[in-house]
Amino acid sequence: MFTRLSMLLFIAIIPTCLQFAQATQDANALVGLPRPDSTERTSPLDVDRLSSVLPIHDQNGSAPRSSKAIAELKSRAFGQQQRNRNCPAIWKTIAADLKLDFLGCNDHARSAVRFAFHDAAGYSSLNTLYGPASGGADGSLLLNDQEISRDANAPMKTFRDNLLLPKYNTYKSSGVGAADIVQFAGAIGVRSCPGGPRYKTVIGRTDDSNACPDGTLPAAFGANSSYSAIVQLFAQKGFNERDLAALLGAHSTSRAFAQQQNGIPSGRPQDSSPNVWDTAFYRQTQASQAPPGVYRFDSDVNVAQPETTCGKAFTDFGSSPPTDIGSAVWATAFADAMYRLSVLGISKDVVSGLVDCTSAVL
Ligand code: HEM
Ligand SMILES: *[C@@H]1O[C@H](CO)[C@@H](O)[C@H](O)[C@H]1NC(C)=O
Ligand SMILES: *[C@@H]1O[C@H](CO)[C@@H](O)[C@H](O)[C@H]1NC(C)=O
Repeated sequence: MFTRLSMLLFIAIIPTCLQFAQATQDANALVGLPRPDSTERTSPLDVDRLSSVLPIHDQNGSAPRSSKAIAELKSRAFGQQQRNRNCPAIWKTIAADLKLDFLGCNDHARSAVRFAFHDAAGYSSLNTLYGPASGGADGSLLLNDQEISRDANAPMKTFRDNLLLPKYNTYKSSGVGAADIVQFAGAIGVRSCPGGPRYKTVIGRTDDSNACPDGTLPAAFGANSSYSAIVQLFAQKGFNERDLAALLGAHSTSRAFAQQQNGIPSGRPQDSSPNVWDTAFYRQTQASQAPPGVYRFDSDVNVAQPETTCGKAFTDFGSSPPTDIGSAVWATAFADAMYRLSVLGISKDVVSGLVDCTSAVL
């Protein structure tokens, strides 16, 4: 850690470290932190920083943007013009395309939802604020061969190699970024499951092909699957216990393919209706026993204990009538948390300049 004095010395010696000092002061402006307040400022330093964080999707560093384009993007990122900006039409095409691939809330659909979570959840308040490897919704899970091969991500490698990467390669010449297509596919994945809500879906993130730090993802079994470990990990990403409960409802549609060592035969679901985005997951995770054919994660059972704050949210989300598959109370909480997940690690000033493409999410 820098002390205030050593930081000042550092700045005096190396002018480029000014950015780092600004970053430290601006920690509250990160969307990933809990309920950020509105104290963020703009300053010349922020403006300089923007040229490195604005959406530039040329992975091979070619074709630097014209200064006119950069100026336009800067003003957009500061919220002066973005309200009038429309979602580029290509996203409607991508939505229709992915919808076909995800038909019936299939394995691609569930992988897309988990993929969006794992790309964004590389963010932690413990990470360095700036790249490389600061984590967040930056497309690194799509772009980095090493990150996708980590144990927690490996079950999604087929989805990435056979579906999402080819899609990205198809659409990137139309200005589509890796981080954006990852989060957009997650939103389409949710919508492909009956009952899945739409949530605010934005475009314009900066890609980063550096792997996020290891150890930022939750464990479903073992010591790190305890209530306190999971709650702490999510708090470091800016999510409180109710947010955690809302996000975990995604396991309403999950199947586990790589948990044989934890006693789950390949492909078994975490609730009795894995092709429906419903609240059965909440009730069945809190039940004294899992229904036949349902295999629960220890982490889910641990955080669902009814006397805890997270468990109370499980009870709340699970108490809607089973026929109310859209469960308004859960949908509202999920949509809020999932939007914030989709912009994890992106500073608040940049988030305010992202383009709203919710209308393209069919
Ligand atoms: C405590 C937090 C979490 C833990 C420990 C956890 C763990 C897991 C594990 C072990 C699997 C099975 C992977 C496999 O073997 O194939 C899984 C699947 C899945 N998870 Fe989570 N998860 C967590 C939170 C989330 C969140 C927040 C989301 C989304 C918002 C999510 C979405 C999914 C989905 C959709 C699947 C199914 C993926 C597929 O079938 O390909 N999970 N999760
Ligand atoms: C970068 O360039 C290499 C070599 O030309 C190419 O194989 C690769 O696909 C390019 N990567 C991206 C993301 O465009
Ligand atoms: C649990 O998490 C900590 C902190 O990320 C890590 O150092 C440790 O290796 C993990 N333990 C296991 C059993 O995975």
